Amino acid sequence: MCGIVAYIGERKAYPILIKGLQRLEYRGYDSAGVALVNGSINSYKRMGKVKDLEEFVGDSSTDGTIGIGHTRWATHGEPNDTNAHPHTSMNGKFTLVHNGIIENYAHLKKELVNRGYDFKSETDTEVLVNFIENIYLEQKVDAELAVRVALSKVVGAYGLVISCADEKDKLIAARKGSPLVIGVGQNEYFLGSDASPIIEYTDQVIYMNDEDVAILTKEDLVLKNIQNDAQKPKIQKVELTIDEIDKGDYEHYMLKEIYEQPTSIMDTIRGRITMDKSKIFLGGINDEMQKLTTAKRIIIVACGTSWHAGMVGEYLFEEFARVPVEVEYASEFRYRNPVINSDDVLIAISQSGETADTLAAIKMAKEQGATIIGICNVVGSSIPRETHAGVYTHAGVEIGVASTKAFTSQVTALMMMAFTIGQKRGSLYDELYKQLINELTLVPEKIKTILEKTADIKDIASLYKDANNALYLGRGYLFPVALEGALKLKEISYIHAEGYPAAEMKHGPIALIDENMPVFVVATKDKSYEKIVSNIQEVKARNGKVIAVVTEGDTTIKKMADHVIEVPDCHEAIAPLLTVIPLQIISYHIAVLRGCDVDQPRNLAKSVTVE
Ligand code: M6R
Repeated sequence: MCGIVAYIGERKAYPILIKGLQRLEYRGYDSAGVALVNGSINSYKRMGKVKDLEEFVGDSSTDGTIGIGHTRWATHGEPNDTNAHPHTSMNGKFTLVHNGIIENYAHLKKELVNRGYDFKSETDTEVLVNFIENIYLEQKVDAELAVRVALSKVVGAYGLVISCADEKDKLIAARKGSPLVIGVGQNEYFLGSDASPIIEYTDQVIYMNDEDVAILTKEDLVLKNIQNDAQKPKIQKVELTIDEIDKGDYEHYMLKEIYEQPTSIMDTIRGRITMDKSKIFLGGINDEMQKLTTAKRIIIVACGTSWHAGMVGEYLFEEFARVPVEVEYASEFRYRNPVINSDDVLIAISQSGETADTLAAIKMAKEQGATIIGICNVVGSSIPRETHAGVYTHAGVEIGVASTKAFTSQVTALMMMAFTIGQKRGSLYDELYKQLINELTLVPEKIKTILEKTADIKDIASLYKDANNALYLGRGYLFPVALEGALKLKEISYIHAEGYPAAEMKHGPIALIDENMPVFVVATKDKSYEKIVSNIQEVKARNGKVIAVVTEGDTTIKKMADHVIEVPDCHEAIAPLLTVIPLQIISYHIAVLRGCDVDQPRNLAKSVTVE
């Protein structure tokens, strides 16, 4: 959460900061602010989005070739102008932008108040900036040492960039738990929470490690850790391109990302399935294959949509690899003293690779001897760096806060893993293994046919846009799809939605059904088809409105449902990849019709780097 951008060099900093903040806005959009170094340090900050900040700055002076910027997802203190970053210390010595949480801020604040400090905001960040200043003034040390001393006493997570009024030719950056990337140019450096604000200017980047401190002037970069040990900067070429982060002709990133799924799934598969479709090869986990094929148990940890992908993974691994699987919310797993053995394999799934709870769950399981495998989208992010091995999904940049293409790529990666392990363990016979591989390669073309039905799906959306509640039902592989459909609807349209295994409906949720309740049923042809047909009848008997996602040519459900959306026939294990698409499209159109901010829904952020 929160996006950080900074520049030091010879160009005018302000436009670089504004453009960078726009690219990072997916990380939080409660407020935005910049500080520009130009003789003095001038801060501008405003509640709302980057465009509100730009309006606020208006014709004010924006000169300066050094600057820091921030877009906020509020943790401590409501979204308002005062709580917006940058924060400046009481005596004006330090100005700082911060992503993360200072957990011992209350204790530090009390100490600072006793020393005469007073505070304008409710933020932990203002405590940190004053804490640094207090050390600087009392211990009469330089800015860098004051920062390192302060950070050695801080408990929590931070990515931060700091400017000191007495050392205006430099910026100090530090990271622990929250990502920071340095872009290396000619006589200039850039900083970003990810590489998106940087790639326009340079493809040479350094991913900072935890406890790294960088001291930057326009000519020079010194990298050390908090203890003052020199660190060798590892410069890497970043693969991201501008086109990937551009919305193109689409009205929203979410729609673009829905439409990208034939390509993103192909990119997940590319180079991992042989031309003759007889074999899967996952290079990233090959070294750990022995552990994977002999694991006594697989634990999957993730949050949100990635957790739903993990649920599909559970069904896949148990069916094809015959390994017991537990799927855990990372936030619960890490705090409940779970039993972890050295022959367990933990699979962490994360689009961003930065989700704080998932990262912490990995660290805990690693300490207890489990083998850690990652399924992540963002290359070089924190989670892949903590794992023993992994599979990148290569879905491309996902900017819409509601995850779409990341989900289908995660499920694709899980399918390839489950089929591989099943085949190696001898629990997936060769003929079915090859059939499943073949079916997987056909998915992108099949999704294209579903995308062609968008206009019809939009018509259905228009009928249910004013609903207050919605129910999503599915069985087997399609139960996680129901959960994902419900999450998509609630997070972008603010309609209350619940996903249930269809058979559970009669144990409670059926009481909610009346003529105003849309019930989305994911009911393609599989082994529980007859059962879900009965569930649909139960809904219809109570006058619920049924919108069913069915297999092409289904006539039985067509007769009883209010609307059907057909998807191409496929093996039931592949069906999540097809059936989720109409649910994504329906949520998107309902949200648009309700006038919601689809790409930046209220209260959310793309990357959840706080617990
Ligand atoms: O980056 P991650 O996959 O770890 O993120 C996990 C969740 O925060 C994320 O899936 C969230 O639920 C999305 N808003 C869902 O659309």
